[in-house]
Amino acid sequence: MNIFSEIKQIQKFITQLKLKNQTIGFVPTMGALHQGHLSLVAQALANNDVAVVSVFVNPTQFDNAEDLKKYPRTLEKDADLLKTVSKDIIIYAPSVDAIYENNVIAQHFSFDGLEHEMEGRFRDGHFDGVGTIVKRLFEIITPDNAYFGEKDFQQLAIIKKLVEKYHIPVKITGCKIHRESNGLAMSSRNTRLKPAYQTAAPFIYKTLQTAKDKFGTKSANKVTEWVYNEFAKHELLKLEYFIIADVKTLKTVKRKSKTKNYRAFIAVYADDIRLIDNIALK
Ligand code: PAJ
Repeated sequence: MNIFSEIKQIQKFITQLKLKNQTIGFVPTMGALHQGHLSLVAQALANNDVAVVSVFVNPTQFDNAEDLKKYPRTLEKDADLLKTVSKDIIIYAPSVDAIYENNVIAQHFSFDGLEHEMEGRFRDGHFDGVGTIVKRLFEIITPDNAYFGEKDFQQLAIIKKLVEKYHIPVKITGCKIHRESNGLAMSSRNTRLKPAYQTAAPFIYKTLQTAKDKFGTKSANKVTEWVYNEFAKHELLKLEYFIIADVKTLKTVKRKSKTKNYRAFIAVYADDIRLIDNIALK
């Protein structure tokens, strides 16, 4: 397994691949890999000659210093896990200095309003940080295809917008949410949940599923009200937001239209750990 940390070395390697006309499928991650990440890697491997996985905890996308500090960093374990998928995967794990050159600051972006909804409202500067690192990684790796999870649906929409706005020649593919058998969306943060919160957390997806059923006959407002009530009764989980939004604009739905597609989005605090999830609504 090849692990690169130097920009020059990975670029040299990529130049050689390109000379051989090999296609590159890229999966950006912050490490602490789980089966959700691996499902993206499997798609990258299936549809390209080579899969590159970046492992980089990007400081500029964290609005909470404690969350950044506590974010799990497990590169050796990540490499072992990737080896179980294929020995040919390339890992790119740069240092903060290599990426930011002592200037750990995000570029400012406009994503035509997508950045002001949901996560953008609750995590200050988050999508500037995500845009900055993903643009930089695309410049370094120059992939043909890149894979992002629907788990972070807003991020996926923003990356598509980034690529369109900056004319970056990469095709973005969205991948389904991978869940634990109890329905909890897999996340690197799940490993930090204390036992009581591990037991409580599947309530998030259960509520999303019931909200989806209710949305068949009830208004978005009524469903939203019901979700807020459910969480108000919950002893451990604290709802930050529940929103039903148009999948294109990510704006909160005011009146349902048959011609539009909607998704329900949720952010919940389990103790000090913030969990997000979403579900497609018909
Ligand atoms: P990270 O949270 O490590 O996620 C890396 C990729 O894995 C993202 O595209 C995310 O949506 C996807 N992913 C995470 N959990 C998933 C699940 N349960 N099912 C399917 N896909 C899942 O997202 C980031 O890192 C960062 O913001 C990054 C894009 C790497 C920029 O720093």
